[in-house]
Amino acid sequence: MIPHTAFDGYTLIFGVIGSPITHTFSPKMHNPVFRKHAINAAYVPFHVNPNQVEDALKGLKALSISGINVTLPHKQTVLKYLDDVDPYAQKVGAVNTIVNKNGRLIGYNTDGPGFILALETECRTTVQNKKCTILGAGGSARAIAFSLAQQHAASLTFINRTLRTAQELAENISSSHPTLPIQCLTNTSSDVATILSDSDIIIQTTSVGLNSTDSPIDNFDWVKPNHICVDIIYLPSKTTFLKQCEQKNAVIQNGLGMLAGQGALAFELFTGIKEDLSTFKRELNHD
Ligand code: ATR
Repeated sequence: MIPHTAFDGYTLIFGVIGSPITHTFSPKMHNPVFRKHAINAAYVPFHVNPNQVEDALKGLKALSISGINVTLPHKQTVLKYLDDVDPYAQKVGAVNTIVNKNGRLIGYNTDGPGFILALETECRTTVQNKKCTILGAGGSARAIAFSLAQQHAASLTFINRTLRTAQELAENISSSHPTLPIQCLTNTSSDVATILSDSDIIIQTTSVGLNSTDSPIDNFDWVKPNHICVDIIYLPSKTTFLKQCEQKNAVIQNGLGMLAGQGALAFELFTGIKEDLSTFKRELNHD
């Protein structure tokens, strides 16, 4: 183990940029794993104002920073300042990981793949041939949906407050996955319970339930023990949505899974080391 005090002229610097950034869990996750592998590195948060993203990325090069994660609201903005973007991140239109390869900044997106990794590891299921329903149609829904499509889900359904937003996302996904059946409906549609009941995997991606007891849906009569119900929120650790699904004995997972998953895959891009998701999860659960 390398203690924090051992930083020297060889220390590699990694970090995360966002605005705000004080709430980030990423340093808590990455620093102990660097130490576990005796990698002389430090992972730090950087507050970057939305109007200074280009300067920040120039700074990465100037300071030879080895890699960074990107969080809200910069995931789309960074794209235009990168030297190269991985095809999947390009398709999603968002980057959450940047690697500085010999002075060239390469963008990746590990959010969707991290979600899939957590689902497979912790819920012991695969996506292939599964009917997947997503509550919400924002940035997180988009990253997850592209990964579900890539993993050959049987179908995708978006349930969103604003139908048009869901339809635009569906059109976007259809253009690269033309044979995937996709449908969209609003939260208030009378078909919601039937669609949810008929789904295998249900993913809650809206901000409803974040630091509150609200839920994007009120009716949980459809939940059965074979349903896999995921909420990407991790504060609170169990949203009302998850509590209701758990009461009906569904398999549930909160947002720490996706957070650990995207972290594990970013760590692999940073270091070439494949570390178990459970290691990152353990660090997140430490006080
Ligand atoms: P993120 O990037 O974290 O996914 P986002 O892009 O702002 O966040 O998306 C937020 C999602 O939560 C959207 O699907 C939004 O629905 P709309 O498209 O109708 O805006 C959904 N959402 C936010 N507040 C909501 C509410 N009070 N009720 C239902 N859905 C809500």
